[in-house]
Amino acid sequence: MLRVGVLVSGGGTNLQAIIDGVESGRIANTSLEVVISNNAGAYALERAKQHGIPVQCVSPKEYADRDQFYEALMDVLEAYKLDLVVLAGYLVIIPEQMVRRYPRKMINIHPSLIPAFCGKGYYGLKVHEAALERGVKITGATVHYVEEGTDTGPILMQQAVEVLEGDTPETLQRRVMEQAEWVILPAVIDRLAREHP
Ligand code: GRF
Repeated sequence: MLRVGVLVSGGGTNLQAIIDGVESGRIANTSLEVVISNNAGAYALERAKQHGIPVQCVSPKEYADRDQFYEALMDVLEAYKLDLVVLAGYLVIIPEQMVRRYPRKMINIHPSLIPAFCGKGYYGLKVHEAALERGVKITGATVHYVEEGTDTGPILMQQAVEVLEGDTPETLQRRVMEQAEWVILPAVIDRLAREHP
């Protein structure tokens, strides 16, 4: 059974897609052990509670400095003995010590076709604003392993999505979520879980 922890910061629609996948059996051999947020008000935590998944809030605001915050976050992760850490709209920079602790065991969903529109400063709606600004006809989402740097790890899966005439950042974000993010993130977890002893 693959023991999975999900890190969130916002509404949790990607988390919901994972929960639905596990509960429906579309994601095999997986146990959602904990949902952790840096944001106590994240609706993603409500989603986890509604499905009986343990939640933890580890907020940088509660610690004197970044190192103490990272240490607390690592302690919580260690406690759950996770096989896979999933970043599902988690807006905190992952420290090197955490990348080293979970080599090829931490994945992230990014709302573009990496290497386009990724890296420092590209998150949430900003990604779709940049895609519309550039005038691309195709965008999409990417699941990748987390390594040093931002959005730089090996790519596991991508899904293309058409940009439509008249799209706003909001309409494009919604389509990328529905047609790409909520499809490939569960699919990657299912694939890793099936490979897990
Ligand atoms: C999504 O757009 C995701 O691609 C990005 O952050 C947003 C999170 O959305 N990483 P949600 O919290 O999963 O609804």
